[in-house]
Amino acid sequence: MALATTRTIAILGSVVIALGVGAFLFAWSGIYNIAASEPHFAITYWLLDFGKRRAVETHSLLAPTAVLDDPNLVALGAGHFHGGCAPCHGAPGEPSNPIIQRMLPRPPDLARVAPTWTPKQLFWIAKHGLKFTGMPAWVAPEREDELWAIVAFLRALPKMDAAEYRRLAKGDAGRPSRGIRELATLGSVADALSRCHRCHETQAAPSPNRLIPKLAGQSQAYLEMSLRNYANGLRPSGIMQPMAAGLDERTLIELAKHYAEHPVIWAEAGIVQSAASNQIERGKRIASTGVPEKGVPPCLACHAGKSAATFPKLDGQHAPYIAGQLRLWRRGLRSRTVHGAIMAAIAPRLSEEQVEDVAAYFESVASTAAAPEPPPAPPLPPRRRR
Ligand code: HEC
Ligand code: HEC
Ligand code: HEC
Repeated sequence: MALATTRTIAILGSVVIALGVGAFLFAWSGIYNIAASEPHFAITYWLLDFGKRRAVETHSLLAPTAVLDDPNLVALGAGHFHGGCAPCHGAPGEPSNPIIQRMLPRPPDLARVAPTWTPKQLFWIAKHGLKFTGMPAWVAPEREDELWAIVAFLRALPKMDAAEYRRLAKGDAGRPSRGIRELATLGSVADALSRCHRCHETQAAPSPNRLIPKLAGQSQAYLEMSLRNYANGLRPSGIMQPMAAGLDERTLIELAKHYAEHPVIWAEAGIVQSAASNQIERGKRIASTGVPEKGVPPCLACHAGKSAATFPKLDGQHAPYIAGQLRLWRRGLRSRTVHGAIMAAIAPRLSEEQVEDVAAYFESVASTAAAPEPPPAPPLPPRRRR
């Protein structure tokens, strides 16, 4: 019995070694044609596809889940998709470039194949990419919040026509005059700016997406610092890192200057979309007196606009963006920059409820930069000569 087992193992071992040597000789011979111009044999294609599906199914088992019904998520995903995915996969009304169509495997039309994957599986593919295919991994894999925006978009994609895609991905409709005058005055920077306009506000219209920060009214120093932090990978974001890394130094400075000088067009920022007034009251207390028992300093000590130029303004900023950034600090994801270290000591001491409250409060404050200039004093009546 023992002898039979030993013999079986020996035979199996030899077969494995022979197969290994055979595979090596086959590769060494160079006979296999790796030309992308030749399609795979049907069997090779089937095997690769089967392997891909099984690998994704197995590895995505432990992927997290999230609620995906926020329309802001879909729009943010669309904005990124247009620059980061559509060049390979194409988009409604916009097929990919003929060069891309000569890739093997060819990046598929995601409107067609996305429904064959579950949200968890799409999340896993977008996060990790696919080996040996050219499908890249997410630039900042720790930013799961951003990955969910992509998944939310991929889920909505099959039902999207070209017009709806254009509206979401490029902000084409619904936002009046995409600042044609501002593009004209900016010369070579205009090209970069037209990319920023896909997501951020133009001079004519605010960004309707509450997950995307308003830039106008921030100081040039803060905007430059933020763009450099993205470009250097110190502030992880799979959406903004590729944007900032693509800017040369002059363009980066010009864009920061441009947004710093932007008129703040949400003067009526006091409109709060969801917060109840007692929530704003609670948030106001945190902002002005902090939470002494937890060692949280008053936010306004630094965010009232009078502090250092590199301290951002929060007045009138979208509440979901503010809350999202505070959660990043709580998860240790925005702590690697010099200034990020300051907030890293503060944000983790806030409870989830306090995060929501303080975000609602800041959104409700009309931006200081938006305050109308005081009207010029009326001319004094001429004094009577005595
Ligand atoms: C450089 C080109 C390229 C870019 C950029 C790219 N992909 Fe891909 N993607 C591919 C290729 C190639 C495949 C593999 C197709 C295959 O295996 O048949 C793929 C596969 C996929 C798949 C699996 C589809 C399937 O059924 O096989 C998904 C989902 C996907 N990509 C989503 C995205 C998303 C989302 C982005 C942007 C964040 C993106 N891709 C960016 C090239 C790209
Ligand atoms: C696909 C949408 C998208 C595009 C295009 C885009 N941004 Fe952003 N931007 C975002 C998002 C989302 C954030 C928040 C990222 C984070 O969580 O750190 C952001 C953050 C920023 C910030 C940091 C703001 C703050 O308050 O800290 C700056 C500065 C910025 N973007 C500038 C630009 C510029 C300049 C361009 C054009 C070159 C641009 N963005 C293009 C979506 C976009
Ligand atoms: C000691 C000064 C200081 C205090 C106090 C402070 N902050 Fe900050 N905060 C900063 C600095 C500096 C930054 C810029 C960090 C960076 O660029 O990485 C910042 C950034 C932020 C941002 C990101 C803004 C953006 O546009 O991305 C939010 C949100 C924020 N703080 C909220 C708060 C809240 C809420 C409180 C009160 C609970 C608070 N801060 C208290 C200094 C402070």
